[in-house]
Amino acid sequence: MRLSLILPSLLLAAAAAAALPARPEIPPQDPPEAIEDHMLAIGRNLRRLRREISDPAKKEAVLDRLVTMQLAATQARALVPHIVEEAPAAERAALLQEYRLMQIAFLRSMLDLEEAVVRGDQAAIEKKLAEVVAWQDKGHAKFNPENHH
Ligand code: HEM
Repeated sequence: MRLSLILPSLLLAAAAAAALPARPEIPPQDPPEAIEDHMLAIGRNLRRLRREISDPAKKEAVLDRLVTMQLAATQARALVPHIVEEAPAAERAALLQEYRLMQIAFLRSMLDLEEAVVRGDQAAIEKKLAEVVAWQDKGHAKFNPENHH
């Protein structure tokens, strides 16, 4: 292709890229974080959210916390729990699949809670918050048994 043809197409591509809306980025982590780090972020935000959720003036703060918790759960979902790493090789794949499915269900509960908060639906907020809280017990009974009380 002649230069006179390449240049306009390069300019078009640059213009198209510039027109794309900004997207939130999850920064790469160095060193990679562990599941515990993301779990601690979930726990910290959940504690604060439970204090704020009945205060209408805190709605935006609650929504920010939910997004933070969802991102943390998404990052934890991409990692492998210790108990899976230590399982006999023949059991590892099935166990990891179960972990991922549980994390997906946990994320779905948090999305449901977020929807209830956005709608301001008090009955749904209470129901979905209880579901989100219950995931700690369910997730840890299977995947974090050492710290399961
Ligand atoms: C509200 C929900 C949750 C909270 C607040 C929470 C909180 C925590 C905290 C504080 C830790 C680190 C300290 C400790 O070991 O106790 C932890 C570890 C852990 N959690 Fe959660 N968790 C939640 C849900 C889940 C779910 C749904 C799963 C699994 C699907 C899960 C899997 C794990 C695992 C595997 C570890 C140990 C880290 C590892 O093995 O690498 N957690 N969690």
